[in-house]
Amino acid sequence: MSTEQQWDIVSGIGITALAVAASRARETSRPDALAKDPYAADFVKEAHPPVPLPTTEAEAAAMETQRTWSATSAYVAVRTRYFDDYVQRAAAAGVTQMVLLASGLDTRAFRLRWPAHTVVYEIDQPLVLDFKLSVLRKRGATTECDHRPVAADLKEDWAAALEKAGLDRSRPTAWLAEGLLPYLPPTAEDDLFQEIHRLSAPGSQLAVEYLGDMQEALDDAAIADSTRRLGVDIGGLVHTGRRPAPGVRLSELGWETREVSAAEAAGGYERPLDPTSFMSRAVYTCARRS
Ligand SMILES: C[S@@+](CC[C@H](N)C(=O)[O-])C[C@H]1O[C@@H](n2cnc3c(N)ncnc32)[C@H](O)[C@@H]1O
Repeated sequence: MSTEQQWDIVSGIGITALAVAASRARETSRPDALAKDPYAADFVKEAHPPVPLPTTEAEAAAMETQRTWSATSAYVAVRTRYFDDYVQRAAAAGVTQMVLLASGLDTRAFRLRWPAHTVVYEIDQPLVLDFKLSVLRKRGATTECDHRPVAADLKEDWAAALEKAGLDRSRPTAWLAEGLLPYLPPTAEDDLFQEIHRLSAPGSQLAVEYLGDMQEALDDAAIADSTRRLGVDIGGLVHTGRRPAPGVRLSELGWETREVSAAEAAGGYERPLDPTSFMSRAVYTCARRS
C-alpha cells in the first residue's frame, strides 16, 4: 500500500470517520436513540480531535456549531439504524460472512448480537483500524462474532487481502458499503462492484449508501460548513466524476435491487429528516444475488 494513500483518524478522510462516531455518540445520549454505540464517545475522547466534536445532545446544545452538526447527526442516526437492521436481517437469514467495507469506527462487530459462527470482516486503512482496536481493547470490548480486521486500500487489491483473511467465496456474504462511495473515483467504484460480484456466492446481499451527485453535496450548506469546521478540504477528498447509480450497476451484474431513500427510512423510524438537507435525498440500495 502506498504511504500517501494512508491517513490516520484525525486527518484527511480519517477524520470523517471520527465525525460519524461523534454523531453516533450524540445519538446514544438520547433517550429515544435509534442505535446505541457505547464506544463512540471513547473514540472521540481518545483521538483528541483538532476541533471540538459534540458527543452528547447537551454538549451540542452548548456549542455555537449546534446547527451545523445537527443535520449530520440526525442523518447518521437513521443511516446507522437502517444498516444495523440490514446486517441483522442477513444474519437472521443464515448469512454467516459479513464484510463491512470502509468500516471506519463502526462497532457493529462488537455492539450487535451475532449468531454462532458469524465472521465479520472490516476493511479500512491500517491506521484507522489500529486506532479503533486500541480503543476497543482499552475498553475491554468483547464480541460474539469472529472479528477479522483487514487493512487494505479499497482502490487497490483489497479482494486478495480479504480472501487471505479467510473469506470463503463459495458461501453467501452480506456486504455493506456505508460512507464509502464518495471517496472512490468512478473506475475504483466500478472495480469494487465487479470484485464484490466475483466474490459473491448465490444468496449474497449488498447494501450501499448512495449520495448521488457529489457536486450537489459539496454545494450543500450543512456539509460545506461542517467540513470547513473539521479543517478538511472535503472537495479534495471526494470524487465528483459521473458514474451509474449502484442500483443500475448491480442490475447490470444480474442482482435484484430495491431502493429506499433516507427520508423514507427515517419516516419508518418516526424520525423525519430535514427535507432541505442534501442527506435526506441519499438512497440506500439493497441488492441480492440469486
Ligand atoms: C465517512 S467514514 C465512514 C465509516 C463507517 N462506514 C461509518 O459509517 O461509520 C469513511 C471511511 O472510509 C474509509 N475509506 C475511504 N476510502 C478508503 C479506501 N480507499 N480504502 C480503505 N478505506 C477507505 C476511511 O478511512 C473512513 O474510515
